[in-house]
Amino acid sequence: MKTIGVLTSGGDAPGMNAAIRAVVRSGINKGIKVMGIQRGYSGLLNGEIFELNRSSVADIIQRGGTILRTARCEEFKTPEGRKKAYNVLKVFGIEGLIVIGGDGSFTGAQKLSDEFDVKTIGLPGTIDNDLAYTDYTIGFDTALNTVLDAINKLRDTSTSHERVSIVEVMGRRCGDIALYTGLAGGAESIIIPEKEYNFEELCKTIIEGKHRGKVHNLIVLAEGVGGAEELAKKIEEVTGLETRATVLGHIQRGGSPTAFDRILASRLGARAVELLVEGKSKRVVGIRDNKIIDLDITEALSMKKETDNDLYNLAKILSF
Ligand code: ADP
Ligand code: F6P
Repeated sequence: MKTIGVLTSGGDAPGMNAAIRAVVRSGINKGIKVMGIQRGYSGLLNGEIFELNRSSVADIIQRGGTILRTARCEEFKTPEGRKKAYNVLKVFGIEGLIVIGGDGSFTGAQKLSDEFDVKTIGLPGTIDNDLAYTDYTIGFDTALNTVLDAINKLRDTSTSHERVSIVEVMGRRCGDIALYTGLAGGAESIIIPEKEYNFEELCKTIIEGKHRGKVHNLIVLAEGVGGAEELAKKIEEVTGLETRATVLGHIQRGGSPTAFDRILASRLGARAVELLVEGKSKRVVGIRDNKIIDLDITEALSMKKETDNDLYNLAKILSF
């Protein structure tokens, strides 16, 4: 393997830069030329490709976002689009491609390797933590800390006003951001797509809490369940308590990556390069029980993400 390419695709996540840095420097260390592909699969189709050296990735480990930029690309979903991508890879002499992104980006990599003679390795880069095969994805920990900071601030104001406060967090269809921040932020209720919730029960908990002397009530709501504004209105109507909704939005995707995300990204980036050197393809890298693992991309994509019931139950017990 003489030349490899690296791209970031789908939603950005803090720690993607640390992963790019690890890929580039590990590659160079092994005598491999590393090409950076801008704007995900879209830049690949357009040939937005340039060589990365050690200094190209200097001073980025602490930066959020991705220096390679990211994009979503409909054309790559078509066989014709992928054929075009393969031709571009051939022109640049790229034999192996490291894709940093989520399940959509991995599906693209899987199809590219199925259809053409190009080796692909996937690195989990998404704040959602929605990939079942890995305990954590790059960016999740930073997003948790960003949300937690917001929750702490909301606590101050909702306590002063003795209000109910709903914080809507990202995660697409996955409730992990809500579950982890709800537990860490001491929320009274956590509402996630993976668990049924009963609106009347929720209101009862709020009213009972008020009677027990709770000065505020914090609800962390995963975006996959529904809108926070609508829920706030309904709660106010039923409980008679002032309720405010805060949608944290894209703030959750930014910021300097935490130590955890930087270390995870560095370990995964280095392992991805090793796999290509070993001649492996259609693998994804991840972390389980603090060990770096790799497995077949098709198997990884077929795994169903399970919610951590222990964490969910613990949060319930501790919120009382
Ligand atoms: P993520 O990787 O974060 O899940 P997306 O689902 O938006 O983000 O996917 C990112 C990109 O991956 C898409 O814009 C597309 O270029 C590529 N992709 C997604 N799904 C497929 C698919 N079924 N086949 C080929 N490429 C895909
Ligand atoms: O996948 C990351 C994520 O931030 C999700 O949590 C969210 O639903 C989605 O991307 C938002 O996408 P966009 O940046 O296109 O608004």
